[in-house]
Amino acid sequence: MTVGVTGASGAILAQKTLALLEADARVSRIHLVVTETGQRLFAEELGITAGDLKQLATRILGKPASKIEVLANKDVGASIASGSYEVDSMMVIPCSMGTLAAIANGISDDLVARAADVMLKEARKLVLCIRDTPFNRVHLENMLRAQHAGAVIMPAIPAFYHQPKTIDELVTQYVCRVLGQIGLPQEKMYRWTGRAATKEAKA
Ligand SMILES: Cc1cc2nc3c(=O)[nH]c(=O)nc-3n(C[C@H](O)[C@H](O)[C@H](O)COP(=O)(O)O)c2cc1C
Repeated sequence: MTVGVTGASGAILAQKTLALLEADARVSRIHLVVTETGQRLFAEELGITAGDLKQLATRILGKPASKIEVLANKDVGASIASGSYEVDSMMVIPCSMGTLAAIANGISDDLVARAADVMLKEARKLVLCIRDTPFNRVHLENMLRAQHAGAVIMPAIPAFYHQPKTIDELVTQYVCRVLGQIGLPQEKMYRWTGRAATKEAKA
């Protein structure tokens, strides 16, 4: 699968996604593409500096990455830029309004946007974890365009009904929902059963 990371706030969402995918036995290969601003957000929010691109996955995970291949965003001739290369699904997490606009309007001038364009033309799963607030009309129209073209719009909006106590719990549950969208349901995903956890505890 492909994981695109752009310059929207939420580098921690990308970090958690990569950690869960790396640990998932069902996943054999992960192509990681990080935009220039995506790299800046890793530095701003998590203190992970760009440095050698080949080592980026290891720096993000905090341990050697065995399945993650980092591709340069400028390389629009990389494997994932072609529909003939088999990729099951792609997530852009987090997805900036700029990259959403590029995807929604077919502007494939970097590898994240081109790989997403390929997913849509090949009718493969594409999940866009868009993030900004508030949205203007252009953002909303681009979401609609991308959704009409086949993308899943999955705003980086956490849930609270699982009663998270830490940011990690909040992030993990959101990422579990994203992975569920690409056919990788997670054991640790909280599933609502019709009653709040506190009610069950008191019962
Ligand atoms: C600290 C920081 C936070 C940002 N947060 C967001 C955000 O949440 N959503 C967004 O759409 N853009 C955000 N931006 C702006 C994008 O990074 C900018 O539009 C950039 O050109 C997006 O490029 P990319 O899609 O190639 O990564 C942020 C920028 C910075 C520096």
